Amino acid sequence: MKHFTQFESKELGQQLIDLALSYKSNPRLDLAKGQGKRIGCIFLNPSLRTRVSTQIAAQNLGMEAIVLNMDKEGWALEMQEGAIMNRGTVEHIKDAAGVLGSYFDILAIRAFPSLTNREEDINDFVFGQFVKYCGVPVVSLESAIRHPLQSLADQITINEFSKGKRKPKVVLTWGPHIKAIPHAVANSFAEWTLGMGHDLTITHPEGYELDEGFTKGATIEFDQSKALEDADFVYVKNWSSFNDYGKIHSTDPSWMLTEKHLKQAENAKVMHCLPVRRNLELSDEILDGARSLVQKQAENRIYAAQAVISTILG
Ligand code: CP
Repeated sequence: MKHFTQFESKELGQQLIDLALSYKSNPRLDLAKGQGKRIGCIFLNPSLRTRVSTQIAAQNLGMEAIVLNMDKEGWALEMQEGAIMNRGTVEHIKDAAGVLGSYFDILAIRAFPSLTNREEDINDFVFGQFVKYCGVPVVSLESAIRHPLQSLADQITINEFSKGKRKPKVVLTWGPHIKAIPHAVANSFAEWTLGMGHDLTITHPEGYELDEGFTKGATIEFDQSKALEDADFVYVKNWSSFNDYGKIHSTDPSWMLTEKHLKQAENAKVMHCLPVRRNLELSDEILDGARSLVQKQAENRIYAAQAVISTILG
């Protein structure tokens, strides 16, 4: 594996899950593996979990992790090829990525979408410019369209809580939000859940259809209560409209999951990537109750990152 930017295959997915679980039971198992190596974690957007879990993962492998908050501490980057840089940008991505590539053995990058330029976002333009010019292996810390480290941690969590069930019913449900939220977590969750062979139902209000490239093979159900029947795992996430790109069409509070919504899914576990807006996107009673796996998912972010970095190191 050279880069880690998306789901590749069920075989690799399972290898990463198994390796992550072995690191979870013995975090310092491969302490010598990354000695003398450096990972650069470049953030163009805020983060809590991704930033800290990736640093811990690198340290568990004996690696040095350096974080650069490019949005606040770096020069303003020019992304367009051939630009005449006589406006606000100070450094071209060609130069910045090339320099970073010479400083690090692995580069990890977070670059959110604009949600205003659909073409650029769906082609993962900003993230792609880093990959193109840095010349070293790249790990996605969330791009415009995918969040694969989150999805791997989610699959590790599903694996741990499936209780031997070979094909659990997984439901991805839209939850209300007041801001326009990217599609990356929902896209990636669908990509990985389908790729790992689970039974996936996606439920959302009409007008919130995700990019079909990520949802092919899933059941799409506009009736949330029908979708939730007999679910083993319910993943809650908001996303803005994809077809009317980046727009909010609904903030309908009846979509926020409560215990009442899960009457027909007695044993369902509830997941969310965090951060979550409590009592808007997901209720306190679910988040603080026995069904919630959100803290387990966040913990698994360490071992997901550790398995990925270790596999890239070879
Ligand atoms: N889930 C997740 O990626 O969290 P952060 O944005 O805090 O890193």
